[in-house]
Amino acid sequence: MVQKSTNITSVEHRVPRDVRWKANGHRGGILWFTGLSGSGKTTLAFELEKRLFDRGFQVYVLDGDNIRHGLSADLGFSPADRQENIRRIGEVAALFAGAGNITISAFISPYREDRRQARRAADDIFHEIYLNADVETCEKRDPKGLYKKARRGEIPDFTGISAPYEAPENPELIVDTRSRSVEQCVNDILGYVEQNFVPAKGR
Ligand code: ADX
Repeated sequence: MVQKSTNITSVEHRVPRDVRWKANGHRGGILWFTGLSGSGKTTLAFELEKRLFDRGFQVYVLDGDNIRHGLSADLGFSPADRQENIRRIGEVAALFAGAGNITISAFISPYREDRRQARRAADDIFHEIYLNADVETCEKRDPKGLYKKARRGEIPDFTGISAPYEAPENPELIVDTRSRSVEQCVNDILGYVEQNFVPAKGR
């Protein structure tokens, strides 16, 4: 993207991130969910948010369908529009994480390069979590009836049917949502958060 703004200077925060993290009792960062429509992103994101909140974490979900009603209301599903959608979310997620939150982002984010860009925006606090479920499984679930519509040709560029999904090559975590229950998947991710976001005592 070409940066149009000129004569701008970045300013450092006067609250260093480790001080902020210490006050919160955990690190901030992004749990970047990626996977097909119907792979469980929204279900797991909101369940995880509730469970982490109940344990005292600062946590917030950015979810595809919600964001597409507002911040990305002007975007469709062409590769260029998805790229811009993910660019915006990547920047917003980095801001939320900078504020100390565990930010759970739940977007298909089908293109590797777009996810790489989101990782660059957040640097070392970006954790890619692949919700692994194949098209056949997601199509069977079809919670919103979208696969049916896509098969009838009523939704162009539908991920997994008429638009690509590029699976992550080196995600920090893979959750097998095809064969594991919601409870098991949430526990897997909770375990990951405990390991990576909660400093050992005295550290
Ligand atoms: S992304 O590709 O840009 O990451 P995002 O996660 O924001 O997609 O939005 C996906 C949601 O939009 C799906 O859960 C579904 O409800 C809806 N949707 C509408 N049209 C499409 C489409 N062509 N492909 C995928 N999802 C679509």
